[in-house]
Amino acid sequence: MTHFYPAFLDLRGRRAVVIGGGAIAEQKVMGLLDAGARVTVISPSVSRRLDDLEVAGRVTIARRPYRPGDLAGAFLAIAATDDRAANRAVWVEAEARGVLLNAVDDLPHCSFIAPAIHRQGDVTVAVSTAGKSPALAVRLRERIGRLIGPEYATLLELLGELRSELAQRVPDARIRTRLWYRIVDSDAIESVRRGDVAGARRRIEQLVQAAAGRRNGRTARPTRGAGIVSIVGAGPGDPGLITRRGLERLRAAEVVVYDRLVHPDLLEEAPPWAERIFVGKRPGSEGHSLPQEQINTLLIETARSGRVVVRLKGGDPFVFGRGAEECEALRAAGVPYEVVPGVTSAIAAPAAAGIPVTHRHHASAFAVVAGHECEEASDLDWDALARLPALVFLMGLRALPQITARLIAHGMPEETPAAVIASATLPEQRTVTGTLATLAERAEVAGLEPPATLVVGKVMASAPVAERDWLAAAACLSPGAM
Ligand SMILES: C[S@@+](CC[C@H](N)C(=O)[O-])C[C@H]1O[C@@H](n2cnc3c(N)ncnc32)[C@H](O)[C@@H]1O
Repeated sequence: MTHFYPAFLDLRGRRAVVIGGGAIAEQKVMGLLDAGARVTVISPSVSRRLDDLEVAGRVTIARRPYRPGDLAGAFLAIAATDDRAANRAVWVEAEARGVLLNAVDDLPHCSFIAPAIHRQGDVTVAVSTAGKSPALAVRLRERIGRLIGPEYATLLELLGELRSELAQRVPDARIRTRLWYRIVDSDAIESVRRGDVAGARRRIEQLVQAAAGRRNGRTARPTRGAGIVSIVGAGPGDPGLITRRGLERLRAAEVVVYDRLVHPDLLEEAPPWAERIFVGKRPGSEGHSLPQEQINTLLIETARSGRVVVRLKGGDPFVFGRGAEECEALRAAGVPYEVVPGVTSAIAAPAAAGIPVTHRHHASAFAVVAGHECEEASDLDWDALARLPALVFLMGLRALPQITARLIAHGMPEETPAAVIASATLPEQRTVTGTLATLAERAEVAGLEPPATLVVGKVMASAPVAERDWLAAAACLSPGAM
């Protein structure tokens, strides 16, 4: 494995020689001019654009082949020819003179290689594949380019302006370093993206004041009231199903308060120093490990201490997630909060098994029901539910026999198709299908574990994936159960 030492060169006013006059040479010349180099091109013929650059006085052109001595006084040279023998001759001279040389597509004659570059203002990202695959470097550069848009150039300008001011206002280097990370991890970038640069400045100022207060007040909990709680939906399971905004909030979090169904990979997205507080229901236990009132108090007090809190919940926070109660508590306490919706398992779990919850021919409405409603006296209108074309039950695995029996008792035909999807969107996803009459027993035989979502209705008819899953699940069933 070849390790190249990555560096950014200051070429302002330095002599650079490009041997070759075609399209690649032209591209290299443009890059060198951008960096402020004095460029000489050596080639018997050159492209139209290079001609124009010469006329504009931006490059010097020697219209002849390379000859020894051409690199005199050069800091750097690029050989953009197809001629290996010429490259070798340039290489010999470059080595003798200590001139940096890149021979395009000719690694043995390179003392440096050129990375694929993504630039946004003063942000430059360089990707190298050690000369093995420029095409891969370009594709990776494009991917990175999609992540680093023009807002980062604007943010960088803001940060550059602040640098000396911050050194004065927050003299403690350790606190200041931490503050810089807080700023770049914060939602200031979101404001810039929306074009609200003033909002970004305000947000940064808030963080600076908090850090300055930390120093002056000799306390780790300054600026009461500066914190905020983002109640974020983590999606149904697969960590890729959180929203982009949810991920941004998570990456800016100082404290993450999370539930059991949150994927561990998502917790890795929070900054390393962020405090992670588990408040969810532990497997096999009843209720929350922390009562809801205590979770509310925790959120309020943590935000009041000036910290940026993310309350991370499985699925969507407002679908059987007690998000509403947390909002009420935060509102009553005067703590600023926001809700970042998530992909709910009520829709995503069926979707992951290929089952749509609505269908133009089969279902123009669906209801999402809390399955444990069935274990006790229920206030729900089961006659009405049984008439709906599609039903989704969450938290219903344990009560599956009661749910299906109740729907049948309230008039839903026994042969109505139904499916249970467990651990949807995760590698261990399993689906068992059947009818209202058969599903509970099939799920029992298959030994499905929570979390699981039940879907009932003719929407199953258009579910080829579910059918395949069902065949796979059938292998788990005893022959009698089939
Ligand atoms: C307390 S509720 C929370 C629902 C969550 N707020 C949402 O919008 O998905 C938990 C229930 O969601 C369902 N659930 C969550 N994750 C699931 C998954 N990966 N696969 C299937 N069902 C899931 C199960 O019915 C589980 O009992």
